Amino acid sequence: MDVTTGRRNLEGHMMWKPMSIIAMVLALAGCTTVKDPPMPVSPAKSEWSIAIHGGAGSMAPGRFKPEREQEYRDALAKALKAGSDILAGGGSAMDAVEAAVMVMEDDPGFNAGRGSVFSYEGHNEMDAAVMDGATRAAGAVAGLTATKNPVLAARAVMERTPHVFLSHEGANRFSEEMGIEQASPEWFAIPSRRRQWEEFRAKQVGWFDKDLKYGTVGAVARDSGGHLAAATSTGGLTGKRWGRIGDSPVVGAGTYADDRSCAVSATGTGEYFIREAAAHEICARVRLTSVDTQQAADAVMAEIGEMGGDGGVIFVSKDGESGFSFNTPGMFRGRADSNGVSEVAIYAAD
Ligand code: GLY
Repeated sequence: MDVTTGRRNLEGHMMWKPMSIIAMVLALAGCTTVKDPPMPVSPAKSEWSIAIHGGAGSMAPGRFKPEREQEYRDALAKALKAGSDILAGGGSAMDAVEAAVMVMEDDPGFNAGRGSVFSYEGHNEMDAAVMDGATRAAGAVAGLTATKNPVLAARAVMERTPHVFLSHEGANRFSEEMGIEQASPEWFAIPSRRRQWEEFRAKQVGWFDKDLKYGTVGAVARDSGGHLAAATSTGGLTGKRWGRIGDSPVVGAGTYADDRSCAVSATGTGEYFIREAAAHEICARVRLTSVDTQQAADAVMAEIGEMGGDGGVIFVSKDGESGFSFNTPGMFRGRADSNGVSEVAIYAAD
């Protein structure tokens, strides 16, 4: 199973590495004519750093009309800016990931908040989680049907209760009682998502849509105080049934942050990410072994691929290095940091 890494595609890092060796040899030989490589040696350590995703899936070049593709790139850039502005102004990683995720929840192009996919019964049931790497406090919600921004409800669980995970009717009641903005079912129900659900029901095959119409959203960040945070929000999978919950709100599977290692948010076939305890597994490998975060993310994604899972992860390390790893043709993604990196991408070859 191929795994695409941030080094290779978003920044041309694999190209840069051999150039560095040549540059070093020439420099040692006293030659001064070597030009600087065109790309920075990123992911680099940085004071603050943020990475976002808007889901991984079957998007390959040519899949979208140019205007649609530009809309996605603009939406990712808007989410990245929302988080970056907070970090650049000295704000917290938690505020930054919340802000970035809210932008994507509000955008009907992503499968989270408004624009969530439909369950088997034709409802929108949303899941979200947040985690604070400094304290390893976490909050999660599953099966929300009326909360405009599920990430806010997840954060309220973390900050305003002794609990970690609330679901379905109780989570809905909690969200309302906390005064978090609610909306009617019509607000969430986007016609294109309804069509996907109708196609799914017409086919009547499989447990859920295998076409990887994911669009789960997530963000991870390191703030200038050195603290990490992660947030993930999703409508789950088209056709999900019987209260099915994916990896996004499961702390350790789709979302994890630990100041001692890294922050991770995942997207993909949630069942496999739960079985791999993917986000925690990446952070644990970084904390307990000598691998770096990119190596840990690639190894975990390879294992998920071997099990039959599809999707990807984004990460920020404790030193502010950002990156991603995915085994699908594309992943909506972006990253920015205090070194001046600011970029969005969709396809593996971007
Ligand atoms: N990764 C989202 C889900 O499986 O629900």
